[in-house]
Amino acid sequence: MLTGVKRTHTKLIEVSKESSRDKIMIGVFRRNTVKGDTHSHHYDTFEVPVKRWTTVLDTLLYVKEHLDPSISIRYSCRMASCGSCGMKINGTPRLACFTRVSELEGDKITCTPLSNFPHIRDLVTDFFYFFEHHRNMKPYIHNEYADIKQRGAEIIPSKDIDDANTKLLREFKQTPEDVERYSQFSYCIKCGLCYSACPTAGEDLKYPGPQALAQMYRYVADTRDNALKERLDIVDNRHGVWRCHFPASCSVVCPKGVDPALGIQLLKSYLLGKSKRKEKKIAELFDR
Ligand code: SF4
Ligand code: FES
Repeated sequence: MLTGVKRTHTKLIEVSKESSRDKIMIGVFRRNTVKGDTHSHHYDTFEVPVKRWTTVLDTLLYVKEHLDPSISIRYSCRMASCGSCGMKINGTPRLACFTRVSELEGDKITCTPLSNFPHIRDLVTDFFYFFEHHRNMKPYIHNEYADIKQRGAEIIPSKDIDDANTKLLREFKQTPEDVERYSQFSYCIKCGLCYSACPTAGEDLKYPGPQALAQMYRYVADTRDNALKERLDIVDNRHGVWRCHFPASCSVVCPKGVDPALGIQLLKSYLLGKSKRKEKKIAELFDR
C-alpha cells in the first residue's frame, strides 16, 4: 500500500516537472565528413514551436521542412522500433522519436551524432562496424536438427518422411523459465545507443561492444542452440568479453529495457564456471 502511494507521488512530481513551453531552441551539429570536412564543425540553432507531446524528432523534421532542408538525420518508424534515429540529445544517447521536448530541462536542446561511430554527415553516423560486430556473434540458432536446408523448398508429404527427417522436423520445446532466461535480450532493436555510451567501445575497435555481447548471451542462454563451444571461443579473447569493466552506462541508455551489462556479466560468469582454462584467461587479462 505504501509502495503504491509512493509511486503515485513520484508520478505527480514527474508530470509537474514537464515544461509547458510553446517554443524551443534546437542546436544541430553540422559537419559533412564525406566531403572531406573532418575536423571543423559548427552548430546551427533554430527556433521551433512545440506542444507537450512534441518529440525531438518532430522538431528536427520541422526544421527540415520549414527552416533548413539541408540538415541530415536518419529515421524511419517514429515509434522506437527501427532503431534509426539514435543521437546524443543534450549529451546523452537517446532515440529522437522517443524523447519528448517537454521531458528535457532548459530552453535549448543540443543534438549531436552518436559517439564511437564513424561520422558521415550532421547527425548521421556509419553503422557498418557495429553491424559487423553483431554479425560476428552469429545471431541465429545453431542446431543441426533445425537445419531447414534438409527440408528443401517443397513440402514433403508426411507418409514419405523417414525416421531421419522426422527427427529433423521435430518440435523444440521450451519451458517459460527457459524463455525467461534470454527473452529480454531479444528485445534489442540495434539502435547503437549502448555502443555509443560504452567507454571501452570508444577505445578498442575490436571490442564487440555491449549490443553484440548481449546478443551472444541471448544465444548462449537459449536451450535450442547447441553451438556453445564455438560461441564461447568467439568472445573469450583479449578484445572480447573480459574488456568490459562494468561501467553499465549501456544499460542506463537502452530505450528497450535490455540490460546489456547484465548479459555481459552473465556471459563472463558462464565462461568462468564452464571453462577448464581459467589460468590462461587470467594471464591474458594481465597481458593487455
Ligand atoms: S541493447 Fe538496447 S541500446 Fe543497445 S542496441 Fe539494443 S536496444 Fe539499442
Ligand atoms: S525512428 Fe525508428 S526508432 Fe526512432
